[in-house]
Amino acid sequence: MQTLHDIAPLRERLHEHRMAGRSVALVPTMGNLHEGHLTLVDRARSLADVVVATLFVNPLQFGAGEDFGQYPRTLDRDRELLTARGCDLLFAPAVETLYPNGLETQTQVHVPDVSEGLCGGTRIGHFDGVATVVSLLLHLVQPDIACFGEKDFQQLAVIRKLVADLHFPIEIVGVPTVRAEDGLALSSRNGYLSPGDRALAPAFYRTLSRCGDALARGQSPADALAAARQALQEAGFRLDYLELRGPSLAPFDAAKHDEGRLLGAVYLGSTRLIDNLAVAFRPAEAGTRHG
Ligand code: PAF
Repeated sequence: MQTLHDIAPLRERLHEHRMAGRSVALVPTMGNLHEGHLTLVDRARSLADVVVATLFVNPLQFGAGEDFGQYPRTLDRDRELLTARGCDLLFAPAVETLYPNGLETQTQVHVPDVSEGLCGGTRIGHFDGVATVVSLLLHLVQPDIACFGEKDFQQLAVIRKLVADLHFPIEIVGVPTVRAEDGLALSSRNGYLSPGDRALAPAFYRTLSRCGDALARGQSPADALAAARQALQEAGFRLDYLELRGPSLAPFDAAKHDEGRLLGAVYLGSTRLIDNLAVAFRPAEAGTRHG
């Protein structure tokens, strides 16, 4: 696997692949790779001739007081993992390479509506940072396909809308969340958890799953969500949000949706965890579905 840090050689290399008629799949990451990222690489590998991963800890998507400085940078290990999974090219630019004119005056991309609420309600400006860097990476690599994890479900919705609205001729592939054996969604931020908090963390997904089951059985969203919020708080999580939305994140409407997405964010100490799952409702029976 070749590692490139600059834009000109990246463009040259990609031009060669395109001239040879090869399809390209992109896997954008912030590094500190785990099995969730590597599953994206596997999916990309199965869909295109050339797999390009990017590794860039994007300052624009971190708010003041968030973990930009602390975020683990593990380039050598990440390179080994990507090589073992058959990635062809790694683009790992410096901040000054992607944003040569500084962050303050950088042109930014805002994706209205889906960026608001949920994580966007707590992490103000986060999705502008994500949309900006993803637009840049899509523009630089011009892949046929780009793979993103469903764990960041709102991010995936933001990227799908960005690609549709800007007419990028790129297929966005969402890849299901990879979980530890105890159910915890894999995340680079799990490494911040103390042993005690790591032992508690799987209760987040368990609670989401129970709530999803209750909803699928016909319990009202208001009751099921209230019970799950209380269960999370009693288990020792500080709740950021727990919400039921429609499958593409529009407000949930029992009359319209027979599928929903349950999404949550919690804190354990100063570590913020997010997770989500699909809820499939049984066909409506009179009196069993509630708005
Ligand atoms: O999901 C991530 O790791 C990041 O948000 C992404 C998509 C690589 C953009 O920086």
